[in-house]
Amino acid sequence: MSYRGLMSASSPTDPAAIVDAAILSRRSIRRFLPTPVPRETVTTLLDVAARAPSGTNMQPWRAYGLAGVARERLCAAVLAAFDADEPGHTQEVPYYPEAFFEPYLSRRRTVGWALYGTLGIARGEAARMKAQHRRNFLFFDAPVGLIFTIHRDLATGSWLDYGMFLQNVMTAARGRGLDTCPQAAWSRYHRIIRAELDLSPEEVVVCGMALGHADPDAPENALQTHREPAEAFTRMLGFDD
Ligand SMILES: Cc1cc2nc3c(=O)[nH]c(=O)nc-3n(C[C@H](O)[C@H](O)[C@H](O)COP(=O)(O)O)c2cc1C
Repeated sequence: MSYRGLMSASSPTDPAAIVDAAILSRRSIRRFLPTPVPRETVTTLLDVAARAPSGTNMQPWRAYGLAGVARERLCAAVLAAFDADEPGHTQEVPYYPEAFFEPYLSRRRTVGWALYGTLGIARGEAARMKAQHRRNFLFFDAPVGLIFTIHRDLATGSWLDYGMFLQNVMTAARGRGLDTCPQAAWSRYHRIIRAELDLSPEEVVVCGMALGHADPDAPENALQTHREPAEAFTRMLGFDD
């Protein structure tokens, strides 16, 4: 059975199987069904996620859960800027290097082309690529959008803690049959988000996240991404002495 199947199977009991299935069945979902996600579920996910460790228990995360009109308002405001090709929307804290280099460049290209491939978008079809990117700002149709912020004076360690928290959100979502897509795309539009959500001046937008039920028939949701095996990125020492 696939890991995604395992998550919906009735009560697996092996703890390793349960934990592994929650982790391994996660993938970035880019088309959601309109099925709502109740507020209590979102709160529970965030409560579970906040059990993430953080250096000296600083808990650097701050989240905004958006549904209904609040979600629509933020989407409309950012889409207006995106559609107008407004200049000057750049991230406050860069997520990517200024220039990509190997092996990261190849990995990035591979996943990009694989995603476009699922949608039948060929190289050179810039308008269709842009339309796909635009869907970020609809939270890929997910009924719940999350925006995550961090205090701008915190250091790199707190961003590390933040990643653990975000992974917990996504894993806890899988445990409830829900899917996610983490979205750095939102952070470019921090000025609009700041105005819409009334962020305080010290908050920096880390990323957004779509949360909901995956559309099982959407071709882009079938994208399977590759990982290098542990042997390729690990040096084991002292095991065979
Ligand atoms: C912090 C973060 C930001 C991301 N931002 C976006 C985004 O803006 N739009 C998008 O479609 N995917 C985004 N992704 C998803 C990655 O492309 C995806 O995680 C990667 O290709 C591996 O695929 P998988 O998540 O299905 O395993 C982001 C992932 C992370 C961890």
